[in-house]
Amino acid sequence: MRFLVTGGAGFIGSAFLRLLLGPARGESSFDVVNLDKLTYAGNLENLASIAGHPRYRFVHGDICDAGVVNALVADVRPDVIVNFAAESHVDRSILSPAPAFETNLRGTFTLLEAARLHKTPRFLHVSTDEVYGSIDPPHEADENYPLRASSPYSASKAGSDLLALSYFATYKMPVMVTRASNNYGPYQFPEKLIPLMISNALEGKALPIYGAGMQVRDWLHVEDHCRAILAAIERGRPGEIYNIGGSRALPNVEVVKLILDAVGKPHSLMQTVVDRPGHDRRYALSSEKLVRETGWQAAIPFEEGLQATIEWYRNNAAWTARVKSGEYQHYYERNYANR
Ligand code: NAD
Ligand code: TYD
Repeated sequence: MRFLVTGGAGFIGSAFLRLLLGPARGESSFDVVNLDKLTYAGNLENLASIAGHPRYRFVHGDICDAGVVNALVADVRPDVIVNFAAESHVDRSILSPAPAFETNLRGTFTLLEAARLHKTPRFLHVSTDEVYGSIDPPHEADENYPLRASSPYSASKAGSDLLALSYFATYKMPVMVTRASNNYGPYQFPEKLIPLMISNALEGKALPIYGAGMQVRDWLHVEDHCRAILAAIERGRPGEIYNIGGSRALPNVEVVKLILDAVGKPHSLMQTVVDRPGHDRRYALSSEKLVRETGWQAAIPFEEGLQATIEWYRNNAAWTARVKSGEYQHYYERNYANR
């Protein structure tokens, strides 16, 4: 099977490439081309373990560039396009919404058009549970739950989901959409809750908690997410949406306490800061459809996955230091200085 993966140098995309081509799979039957713009979040270091693989090729380019995308799809003739490329952070989309609009909407449109032109046999668009907005207990969103996006990020993802699904309805293109809950694991950029808190805790810095810290997220290990995406490609049905829920729902403050305890730092490092505007209180997903149709199950319990992730950050301080130099300092200042 020939894959064209976009955003493969980011957190989840790189985990997906390691799943397709890494040693755990033995002799891989996949050819993989990775198209990535290498934004602040794209990092070829994340792919060091597969960079020399004979069935892997990296292409530096923008999914919004129709010329690049069309030429690549014509050249590779992929059996499947998997679209991970995105501006993926809510707080950045609040500070500057334009990049989320461009990449998440225009970029997805550009890819869909190329797939339509070249009759790509399968297209999986990677999306998020944030498109459903905040969900009151005790409800869980299934795939028919209304879309109530609250941030520019989640609105751009909801728009791209609808666009992708319209290509199935209109052009009978075999498109699928997956919507996963909050991911965590190695190589996550330290702007998201878990890696930011681990990194600050290891450095003995303050841990900024938005509002009262009682917002609930359902944590999914990135490797469970990637296995779910592969299961959807191999056994899912075109035109369908599949939710991918996590193994543990927890208020933010509980997650941060687990991190501080594991690192051996005091809870007093937590610092309440001004809340995020439009902050969704709770995400909760039902993955019943994916489990029933593909047999996928989340396999990594949260406490185990979190400990392993903390160990990874402890052992990869040089990786963290490199991604936190330069642009990150500027972002941190913009997002946190006046809270
Ligand atoms: P990330 O920010 O770590 O990586 C994004 C990657 O996309 C980077 O390699 C970046 O260089 C690349 N990219 C950005 N704009 C591009 C463009 N215009 N052209 C080509 N490449 C571009 O993101 P992530 O956390 O790995 O998320 C991947 C996907 O999964 C996104 O679509 C996101 O919406 C979705 N998702 C993420 C989570 C999560 O918890 N992180 C949960 C559910 C769904
Ligand atoms: P985040 O990792 O940005 O994911 P998302 O907003 O997509 O769910 O945030 C997870 C939760 O953690 C969310 O409720 C916001 C909260 N949060 C903080 O309290 N402090 C922070 O510095 C960050 C980045 C997030």
